Amino acid sequence: MNLQARIDRFLATHQVAEVYARRVNHFYTKYLTSLGLADVVFTDHDTHHLVDRDGNRYLDLVAGYGACYWGRAEFVRDAARQALELRMPSLVQFSHSVLGAMLAEALVSYAAGDFDRVFFTNGGAESTDYALKMARMVTGRPRMVCFTMGYHGLTLGALGVNGSVKHQKMFGVDGPALVLPLNDAEALTDAFRRHGREIAGVIVEPVIARTGDVASADFMRVARALCDRHGALLICDEIKTGFGRTGKPFCYQWSGVVPDIITVAKGLSGGVSAVGAVLSREHVYRKVFDSIEKIAVYSSTFKENHVAMAVGLAVLDAFDRHPGIYDHVQAAESLVRQQLETTAGSPVSYTIGGRGLVLTIGASSAVRSNVVRALVDKVEGDAIPGILCRRLFAEHRILVSLPNRFGASVAVIPALDLPHEELGRFTTALRTVAGEMATESNWRTLREVVADARAVL
Ligand SMILES: Cc1ncc(COP(=O)(O)O)c(C=O)c1O
Repeated sequence: MNLQARIDRFLATHQVAEVYARRVNHFYTKYLTSLGLADVVFTDHDTHHLVDRDGNRYLDLVAGYGACYWGRAEFVRDAARQALELRMPSLVQFSHSVLGAMLAEALVSYAAGDFDRVFFTNGGAESTDYALKMARMVTGRPRMVCFTMGYHGLTLGALGVNGSVKHQKMFGVDGPALVLPLNDAEALTDAFRRHGREIAGVIVEPVIARTGDVASADFMRVARALCDRHGALLICDEIKTGFGRTGKPFCYQWSGVVPDIITVAKGLSGGVSAVGAVLSREHVYRKVFDSIEKIAVYSSTFKENHVAMAVGLAVLDAFDRHPGIYDHVQAAESLVRQQLETTAGSPVSYTIGGRGLVLTIGASSAVRSNVVRALVDKVEGDAIPGILCRRLFAEHRILVSLPNRFGASVAVIPALDLPHEELGRFTTALRTVAGEMATESNWRTLREVVADARAVL
């Protein structure tokens, strides 16, 4: 089979959107339609850009939902190719994985002594599930504390600690977890006072990517102290924030508080192959694996496959080659803040959340009239980010993310090594688009919102 020829034939004879809507999910197609993205097919790329069939280049600030840490880097693809070409067999199962052992050593070394043990998974949500299982097993308790709008994946276990209770309710997993406001030390203290004997652990997404809220150092210290006092585990979900995304190797390092467990995935994959891991301290590991039968309940077929392990090794090597990447990320955040927060004389003011290169950006008065804004919200939640996203794509060839469909902001989670000039291009384009919305006829915005609403009906 020649895969490229097969793709070319499919594209020549089919509308991808039509087949996808018919065979996979028509609501996804409607969603993309509302953002003006349904008919775009990307057939090529360079490190930080996507290229459509007509050769148009788009700056990619989504980076595979924050998985392509080094962009779509040739060195990661090369690692995957080399893994496939090894004579050493993958997935033998009744044999130690050589590459698994190598990547575990590399991960522990990257974590600089904070963690001792690595359990590999096939992605983010699975890492969450295993971390939750470990907390239950270590403590013998059933309940978790999680935080409003926090996100840890969509498997049944991970949904149980989803900070959107609406999403928990859809699957009847609302109830066991306590959902508290982030950074509310009193609420956390009170939860432990009332339910301390039932709480297995606290799981925190240190930058809540759906809102831009950042766990404060003080709050992390309180969480650590409460977990220690009550014998619960502190779990930090570093799936989006790990591996330098916030300007330090892991986000928990901003607080100086070391969790008992961290979960990782996205960045380790380099955007090439699904991979995840749960890193734990020795005392956790000893309690989880206190008998040989436990290996039967912590396992999966595809974990430690050659490609996943090889891309992980390649990604970690890149940090050794680029020790300046953490400063680069911190400077990138400063640049975005400086270019958007100092908007004296501009009709729009911006609210920036997040840290490093996981940022949410709200454009406060991107619609001139309060009446129109109210109408827009009535028609379709907060539709402004959707319009910003569509116009940035159509008019400036920049792809941004929406943290959730009805959220109040757009999000950027680009490659860590994105040149600062490209981020500058984005902030200029955003100011142009939001500025136009704030000054142009409100009818244009309204028409877009109505078209958008019709697309998703
Ligand atoms: C913080 C966080 N945790 C967990 C997940 C779930 O990861 P996955 O999509 O690989 O299941 C995500 C994915 O966006 C995430 O951002």
